Amino acid sequence: MPDSAAELVPARPSLPKLREAAAGCRACPLWEDATQTVFGAGGRSSVAMFVGEQPGDREDREGAPFVGPAGRLLDEALTRAGIDRRAVYVTNAVKHFKWEPRGKQRIHAKPSWSEMAACRPWLDAELAVVRPGVLVCLGATAAQSLLGRQFRVTKQRGQWIESDLAEHVTATIHPSAILRQRDNESRHREMEALVSDLKLVASVL
Ligand code: URA
Ligand code: SF4
Repeated sequence: MPDSAAELVPARPSLPKLREAAAGCRACPLWEDATQTVFGAGGRSSVAMFVGEQPGDREDREGAPFVGPAGRLLDEALTRAGIDRRAVYVTNAVKHFKWEPRGKQRIHAKPSWSEMAACRPWLDAELAVVRPGVLVCLGATAAQSLLGRQFRVTKQRGQWIESDLAEHVTATIHPSAILRQRDNESRHREMEALVSDLKLVASVL
């Protein structure tokens, strides 16, 4: 088993070729307990790319990113910021669902650095094909994977970050952080802050 997906990335990749190659990826152990590879979604000429952590339970079963509860919140925040989800590319730092059983449920487990590193060639290939003008990291996993381990979303969210990955690069919270808030007031506050960060993104689209 290769310890990185790099050797599976086709020469002269297109999104359909990448999706097909990634479907058979076994470069880290995560494929074993997951249903399928959840590759990014969106067109080659998307102006912005949003990168989450990894697919969740729903995404694993449906085979598309951000189609579960976190995806609904992302859609709501994008709409409120004036960004059309159909015009952006949405993907994840890791493309298989990592989970632990809790009763009958499959509970999200955080991917390790080695799993993120193994999966990184897929994300790099998506970036190389789409070449988005704006790159948005959703949450600490994507931000630390793409912008460095010392990156702190809590401190550096909602600002432009110096990076070679795209002309405009920024990070904000992961929409699932809203779901984890204990009361309505905190959920509301976190949603407002996400929308405000996404308005910064909308301002350069
Ligand atoms: N959370 C993520 O990070 N990505 C998804 O696709 C869904 C939930
Ligand atoms: Fe390959 Fe990424 Fe899936 Fe690991 S998580 S098997 S590297 S696609």
